[in-house]
Amino acid sequence: MTTTKPYAVTFVCLGNICRSPLGEGIFKKLVKEAGREEEFHIESAGLGGWHVGETPDSRSQIVARQHGISLDSTAQQFRARDLERFDLILALDEDIYHGLLRMAGNGPAREKIHLLREADPQARGNLEVPDPYYGDLNDFETVYQMVERSCQGWLERLK
Ligand code: 4NP
Repeated sequence: MTTTKPYAVTFVCLGNICRSPLGEGIFKKLVKEAGREEEFHIESAGLGGWHVGETPDSRSQIVARQHGISLDSTAQQFRARDLERFDLILALDEDIYHGLLRMAGNGPAREKIHLLREADPQARGNLEVPDPYYGDLNDFETVYQMVERSCQGWLERLK
């Protein structure tokens, strides 16, 4: 019997409490629905460390629950060693994307780093998932929709 290592994917935002936990939760749900759980290892992280150890923002939890998802991540900071640990590193916005590229320097991990919304068919050139931290539940729902479309797109690409 041969065992293949799961393809490791992480979602990265700033605090790992609003946007990237939604990425992790939505992608896990889609992977499960597709019967592909054995193919993937899925996490999320933040470039900043202020919220390490916290559960997701209550507004992300509410919106996720409205879509039948229970978020189970605990905030962690993205570290240089994670550049090796993951096969695909999905940045939620341009600042994060460039921060990750700086961290990777000229190393081989550069090619693993992408903007999440590259796979959103409705992105129309805007590849950012806006930070909803100072927004309301509607902003979190908008984030949810963008992240869900993008996750569907990535799951399709990763066949
Ligand atoms: P996130 O949102 O990056 O989507 O988790 C934020 C959460 C916290 C902060 C900024 C953005 N903050 O500045 O504390």
